[in-house]
Amino acid sequence: MGDWGGTSNAPYTTPVELDTANQMAKISRARKPSFVLALGDNFYYNGVKNVNDPRFQETFEVVYRDVSLLIPWYVIAGNHDWRGNVSAQIAYTKLSNRWRFPYFFYPLTFKIPGTSDTIDILMIDTVLLCGHVIDDFHGYQPNVPKDGTTAEIQWAWLERQLAASKARYLFTAGHFPVYSVAEHGPTRCLVNRLLPLLSRYKANGHFAGHDHSLQHLRTTDHRVTLDFIVSGTANFIDPSTRHMHSVPQDSLKFHWADTRSKGGFCFAEAEHDKLTLTFIRADGHELYKTNIAPRNVL
Ligand SMILES: *[C@@H]1O[C@H](CO)[C@@H](O)[C@H](O)[C@H]1NC(C)=O
Repeated sequence: MGDWGGTSNAPYTTPVELDTANQMAKISRARKPSFVLALGDNFYYNGVKNVNDPRFQETFEVVYRDVSLLIPWYVIAGNHDWRGNVSAQIAYTKLSNRWRFPYFFYPLTFKIPGTSDTIDILMIDTVLLCGHVIDDFHGYQPNVPKDGTTAEIQWAWLERQLAASKARYLFTAGHFPVYSVAEHGPTRCLVNRLLPLLSRYKANGHFAGHDHSLQHLRTTDHRVTLDFIVSGTANFIDPSTRHMHSVPQDSLKFHWADTRSKGGFCFAEAEHDKLTLTFIRADGHELYKTNIAPRNVL
């Protein structure tokens, strides 16, 4: 899930955040996931100030307190986090048993239970790669990274990691989406630079937030199928489909952003033959389910 970060004022949560957290706990009790991915905009609207910021309690610990959610949370920063102190979010890793944010970008590898397969997820900082959105109102695009050298270091790291991966499933995960039909739309910088890498190294796709909807898009390019997941309804819901015609024709498989609901999130389950994605509404209703095939690399 992405875009889950409450609000700047008391009670520092939204009704959507609380209901989505309750449903995550129910699913977690039943399905016993190994981890949660938190894909940025962790603290609205201006991130945290330092490692002792009360928002770690108010917006994170007390909301996702069910015992079933005391599992590793792998965290990456979003544009709202970059309005504050991302180093403090990294430092919080040392104070928490579950918050895991070792660096601005980092690799994850998991064994798929009952198999000898692995899944690689490369956690990327899309603000450092593409630039900040100073005013994220009305589809403002990140234009150029603040520090070009830092961005190129991360791009080079990412390409090395993608090239080296032998995993059965390989994804990137970050805050900005590659493709989205909603308010912000596709991120030009990621379409230009991340997409060709995913395709070249036969990755499975990219998980993102940023737009406050649930979306699944699928493209096939040079016989590589790529899946793009947007999961940004864990705190706010925005029904905009402003960029419906900014994505490749027929790529949109699912879009949902019902403002009468209390949000939703994506549940993923990897097996030898398929990786199943389910979008689950805050009341438990399964909105959509799809399968992703393993990579075609061996
Ligand atoms: C960011 O947070 C860290 C950890 O609490 C702190 O050491 C640092 O001074 C903070 N930076 C700013 C600019 O406040």
